[in-house]
Order: sequence, then C-alpha cells, then structure tokens
Amino acid sequence: MRVLIVLPLLFSLSCGWKIFHLGKFRGPKSEVSPSRAFPDLWFDQKLDHFDPTSNTLWKQRYFVNDEFHETGGPVFLMIGGEGKADPIWMEQGMWVEYAKQFKALCFQVEHRFYGKSHPTENSSVKNLVYLSSEQALADLAYFIRQMNKKYSLPRGTQWVTFGGSYPGSLSAWMRLKYPHLVHAAVSASGPLLAVSDFSEYMRVVRDSLATHSDECVSAVAEANKQFEILLRHRIGQQRIDKLFNLCDSVVDSSKNDISNLYETLAGNFAGVVQYNKDNRQFEGAIDANITIDVICDIMTKSSIGSAVTRYAAVNDLLMKTYDQKCLDYKYENMINEFRNETLEGATGAGRQWMYQTCTEFGFFQTSTLPTQPFANHFPVDFFIQQCSDVYGPRYNKELLSNGILRTNVMYGALQLEVSRVVFVHGSIDPWHALGITKSDNNEAPAIYINGTAHCANMYPESQDDPPQLTAARHSITGLLAQWLQPSARSVRFQPV
Ligand SMILES: *[C@@H]1O[C@H](CO)[C@@H](O)[C@H](O)[C@H]1NC(C)=O
Ligand SMILES: *[C@@H]1O[C@H](CO)[C@@H](O)[C@H](O)[C@H]1NC(C)=O
Ligand SMILES: *[C@@H]1O[C@H](CO)[C@@H](O)[C@H](O)[C@H]1NC(C)=O
Ligand SMILES: *[C@@H]1O[C@H](CO)[C@@H](O)[C@H](O)[C@H]1NC(C)=O
Repeated sequence: MRVLIVLPLLFSLSCGWKIFHLGKFRGPKSEVSPSRAFPDLWFDQKLDHFDPTSNTLWKQRYFVNDEFHETGGPVFLMIGGEGKADPIWMEQGMWVEYAKQFKALCFQVEHRFYGKSHPTENSSVKNLVYLSSEQALADLAYFIRQMNKKYSLPRGTQWVTFGGSYPGSLSAWMRLKYPHLVHAAVSASGPLLAVSDFSEYMRVVRDSLATHSDECVSAVAEANKQFEILLRHRIGQQRIDKLFNLCDSVVDSSKNDISNLYETLAGNFAGVVQYNKDNRQFEGAIDANITIDVICDIMTKSSIGSAVTRYAAVNDLLMKTYDQKCLDYKYENMINEFRNETLEGATGAGRQWMYQTCTEFGFFQTSTLPTQPFANHFPVDFFIQQCSDVYGPRYNKELLSNGILRTNVMYGALQLEVSRVVFVHGSIDPWHALGITKSDNNEAPAIYINGTAHCANMYPESQDDPPQLTAARHSITGLLAQWLQPSARSVRFQPV
C-alpha cells in the first residue's frame, strides 16, 4: 500500500499513455505484454527545431510493426502523448485492424520528455523550454522523412497519423502543418481550442452523470452542500477527516488545501465519466469496471446514508481500487512533488504535462460554471497559482494568456483549415467541448458518437459496444478507403 499525493486537474488520456488524471493517479496499470516483443528503437532527434544553428541531438524512442505491410501500402503513425508509449498498441487497438486491412507499416513514436524519450537529463525549467507541441510536431516530421529513407519507401508513400486526446490534436495539427509529409489524419477526442478556464468540462461531467439519472446529479450537489456545512465547524471537520480517509486533518488546513480536496473529490467523478466503459482492460486498466452506473448507483442509494456519506463511499471505492491508504490533499505536498525535476519522478510525467498546460493550453477544469454540482472552490486562479508555485513567478496569468493566444493563432483553434482529417468525439467525454463535433466540410468530417467516452473508437472492439460506436469505426474505415485509394495516390515507384 502506498500513499498517493493528490495531483491537480490534469487530463490525461488512457489512449495508451494514461498515468494520472484529475486529482489522482488514474489506472496505475498492471503490466500487459504484447504477444511478441516490440523492442525499443531509437531515433537521433534534434533538440531544437527552431534554431537552425543548433544541431544538438537526443535519442527518441519508437516502435515498429511491419508484419502487415505490403509494398506500396501506406504508413500509419500512432502519435505518442503525455506519458510513456505502450508497445501493447503495436498489436492491439483499432488502428491495427485498419493497418491489416490497408497493408500498412506501423510506427508509434513517443513524445519528447515523456516515457524514455529524454531530450535533456532533467525537467528543470531551463530544459522545459524544449517541451512544446510545435517541437513535438517537428520531431514527427523529421521522423517521417528519415523512415521514408530507412525503409526505402517509394516516393508518394502515404502517411496517416493517428492519435487520441492530446495526440488527437497533434494528429490534426500534423496534417495542418506538414501536409507534404502527412496524407491524412485520424484525430480522436482532440481538444483544438486552448482556453484557460475550461469550465465546460464539468458541464459535460454533469450531463454525463445525468445519463444515469437526474437524481445522481442532485445527490452530488447535495453532498457538496453538506460538505460545505461540515467544513464550517470542528466536529464537522473531524467527520470529514474520517469519512474521506484524509491523511491530515482538515482542522488546520489552508484555503489551497481545501480547494485541492474539493477538486480531488470532483475528480473521482470526472475520471470515471471520462473513461466510462471504454474497453481499456486490454492495456491492464484496473479501474475499468468502475463506471458511471456504479458510482451513480452508490450516489442514489439512500440506504447507504446521507448524500455526503454516499459521496465518501464513492471515494472509498476508488481508494480501494488504487490501493490508497489515505487521501493526501495537502497543497504543499502536491507542489513539492511537481517541483521534482527527475524526468520520471513521483508524478509520472505530471510535471511535464502541467508545464504544457501552464504555457500552451490552459485546459484547467475549473468549478466556475454555476450549474455544475461540485461546488465552486477551484476557480482558474487556483490552477494559475500552481503554475507559479511549481515553475516560478514568471509562470503567471499573463504568460498563460499569451501562450493560449499563441496556440490558437498558430493552429487555428476550431477554425483550422484541413482536408483528409476526421475528428472523432464521444458525447460522454468532457473533452468534446473543446473539439470539432460538427462539420459541413466533406474534406474534414466530424463523427460525434452518442454515449461514448474519451477515445472510445481507438480501443479494441467488444461485443458490448453500442451500435453507434461500431458504426463510427466503420465510417473511419470508409474514409481511409477513400483517402487511400490508389487513384488518389501519386505513387511513382523509383527504378531500383
Ligand atoms: C539539470 O540538467 C542540467 C543540464 O541540462 C544540469 O546543468 C543541472 O545541474 C541539472 N539539475 C539537477 C538538479 O540535476
Ligand atoms: C471490478 O473488478 C474487480 C476485479 O475483477 C473486482 O474485484 C471488483 O469487485 C469489481 N468492482 C466493481 C465495482 O464491479
Ligand atoms: C524526485 O523523484 C524521484 C523519483 O521518484 C526520487 O527518487 C527523488 O528522491 C525525488 N527527489 C526529491 C528531491 O524529492
Ligand atoms: C443518445 O442516446 C440516448 C440513450 O440511448 C438517447 O436517449 C438519446 O436520444 C440519443 N441522442 C441522440 C442525439 O441521438
């Protein structure tokens, strides 16, 4: 048993790289090995793509699977995200099914600063200047160019990028920025609009809980009301200590501690919603059977006790699942973990992802929206405070808003102009609120799946999948078939 420090609201995907999520490590995975080995391969990558006078190199990790490939076939590239790349994806997941059908050569490239891909020896603030989505896209561009050479791929070989969540955004941006290298892209659950106060996140969490019942939502709201009242007096505070298994009493806690506690408990629900029924078992997820139905059944079961007692029962269930002894909600402890500059430190890659949110994206899942049921104790300033406390006072509101404007200008936000890109989202997934879910453009269609969670279309099929998910997967196959038609190719085989 170990005590886990509560981490702030960071989204991470399960799409192969999930490490932590919303207030706690989500799904510490049991190791699952592919049926055959996919050895680590290493690519000599440039440290700084935007300084032509610099030629410092580092080793970037990638995997290859060439068993489906036939000459003239396309190349599929699975883009790594904010966590360790997992070789299980080299033989499982929908993209592998597509690869079999289209005879594709498959690569997965780990994102710089995550997993074993270390451009610098640590994640000091000085070194983190090399961590950005643009550097990551340029990494992929150099990778494509080099693999075309290494595998002697014929001129005109079509590359298709895949990714879910942040890598879903990268997948679309790859086609946008490097259309001469990337022929088409599948972008799953990708947030394309950078925003500091992502209050809509909790709106979708509320709506998703309401797919179980309105009673579930009102029980959560009632629990938070009771929680606020308990916090007002000492006996109530001691009751909260017990109910929620806190490592330290709330009696002597700071305002930031309390914000962190509220956010963590909201995170219990947000995490379950985001990954509801998503077939992650194949990658060893241990929390996959905790679904919206499971937690809403608890919230609406009055025999358990008052609403706040039921709220605590949900917390208990998750703590047991993650083998957590007590809940550490102390702000200072959390900040100290994020200050650790070891690349694979105690927060996993939390420090790195948080840096990207503080400098490029925001995406802070705040309590600002009045109609969400988790009370309002984690406003956007709480998150910006964390940026300053972890990276230094320079990482403030102004730096963030400049960074967000820059991101939206560089990539076009929801107005990005692309062709041969499909945007896929699920209605249960809170991230759809920052993505493209509707499109009139046949060249860049959107697929919005009713009732599915984050990246659902990327996972292996299951017989419990709703028909609209199966239909979405078929639509993607259809688009790939259209985009990869031989007539659409300009394949010119070079004479040997
Ligand atoms: C972090 O790495 C830099 C070199 O990139 C090095 O100069 C510095 O001493 C390292 N910091 C720590 C705490 O090891
Ligand atoms: C989830 O599965 C585990 C292991 O199979 C089991 O022990 C646990 O009771 C299940 N939890 C729920 C909520 O169904
Ligand atoms: C940073 O994290 C690493 C890995 O968890 C740990 O070994 C190290 O002791 C930590 N450093 C500090 C200063 O806490
Ligand atoms: C989505 O699915 C739910 C539950 O099956 C259904 O009630 C609802 O009408 C559907 N919404 C749309 C837009 O199809």
